[in-house]
Amino acid sequence: MNDRDCMNFSRADFPDNFEFGTATSSYQIEGHAFGGCGQTQWDTFAATAGNVARGENGAIACDHYHRWPEDLDLIQQAGLDSYRFSTSWARIIPQGRGAVNQQGLDFYDRLVDGLLERGIKPYACLYHWELPAALADLGGWRNREIADWFADFTQVTMERIGDRLHGAATFNEPWCIAWLSHFMGYHAPGLRDIRAAAHAMHHTLLAHGRAIQVMRSLGMNNLGVVMNFEYAEPADGSDEAHAAARLYDGIYNRWFLGGVFNKAYPDDVLAGLLQYMPENFAADFETIAEPVDWLGINYYTRKLVAPDKTGLFPGYKEVEGPLPKTTMGWEIYPQGLYHFITWADREYTKGLPIYVTENGMACADMVKDDSVADADRISFLNQHLDAVRRAIADGAPVHGYFIWSLLDNFEWTLGYDQRFGLVHVDFETLKRTPKQSFAALSQSLKND
Ligand code: FCB
Repeated sequence: MNDRDCMNFSRADFPDNFEFGTATSSYQIEGHAFGGCGQTQWDTFAATAGNVARGENGAIACDHYHRWPEDLDLIQQAGLDSYRFSTSWARIIPQGRGAVNQQGLDFYDRLVDGLLERGIKPYACLYHWELPAALADLGGWRNREIADWFADFTQVTMERIGDRLHGAATFNEPWCIAWLSHFMGYHAPGLRDIRAAAHAMHHTLLAHGRAIQVMRSLGMNNLGVVMNFEYAEPADGSDEAHAAARLYDGIYNRWFLGGVFNKAYPDDVLAGLLQYMPENFAADFETIAEPVDWLGINYYTRKLVAPDKTGLFPGYKEVEGPLPKTTMGWEIYPQGLYHFITWADREYTKGLPIYVTENGMACADMVKDDSVADADRISFLNQHLDAVRRAIADGAPVHGYFIWSLLDNFEWTLGYDQRFGLVHVDFETLKRTPKQSFAALSQSLKND
């Protein structure tokens, strides 16, 4: 047996009460054509030629909206302790503000009860990218008022399900919400505008702080935020490459942590963004830094960073690295996970619980004889759980690890052919087939 056939850990290798979980998101699995859901920015972005591979979208996705009992059974069969799902704003409030869709609230209510009945701890994340289109019309994350709209959405949602959640997060990956979607234009709403990006980078955090306040006022606890980090490595030994990697790290990793935990944005990033920031933004840090109970870290890869020659901020580009890659083209670099856990604990969260809220890989998985051989995924998970164990041994308070993802799903601009699931989904028949990684995981989680 090597690390490609089975999981090389048991529960005894982790602290008592360490949680093993899996994560999904609403637009990627539910099917937004169902249940009175409003139109989202991902529906309109996907309807625009050239944005998503093969013109695919989340209208049906995994049909989790109807098949959720089967999916929750799978989580239980895997032996997992916890499940992180997200709530779709447009499913609950189709126009983003105003009238509530009771069917939407009922859906999440059933889901939470279904998890509890199966002995699985529910973690809800309020926002995983599918902004109601009616709010995108009003400027979306560029408009400061979104902090109020988001606070109202939080109130409506958590009044219904907040009493039974084990934990809750405000946002999934503020970097993606703001920078990837408003500066790089890769994700909805597909903007490439530095002022839009600077506004979104701030308003997302303001909305985060407001939502934490709302959830506290409802008596909820175990509240956090989920951030994604990428390890930025200079492409060569030059001073310019070092500076480029440092700035990449600032925008990607230090900005959002700085706001929430230090009431400040990093100076090197502000040097480029200050003139585009909302007026008087620093007055919002008291709200942004509303205390949280944990930090969620999503981690996948590292990037090699080199200077570019545009003369414009931020003046860097990514270059291809030499390490083995997943089908996403992402280098496999578990050391980065160790780095981010220990660094976030040391520099920002200082003893607060940390959860790895997403980690996993896409493979070219195929069903053969009702089985999917995904030894690469088993090895990937082993390597990253080793990194988590090392971080814990070195004193980091990691309380849980969530695999992305339960099911193969709609991988945003790449559509349905990037398969991240522990469970294979045939998108013609919607049949679920647990992969070998699923079996390996359930085997190891059975052992104490
Ligand atoms: C993360 C997202 C998640 C999924 C994985 C592969 O950035 O949170 O929805 O797309 O990447």
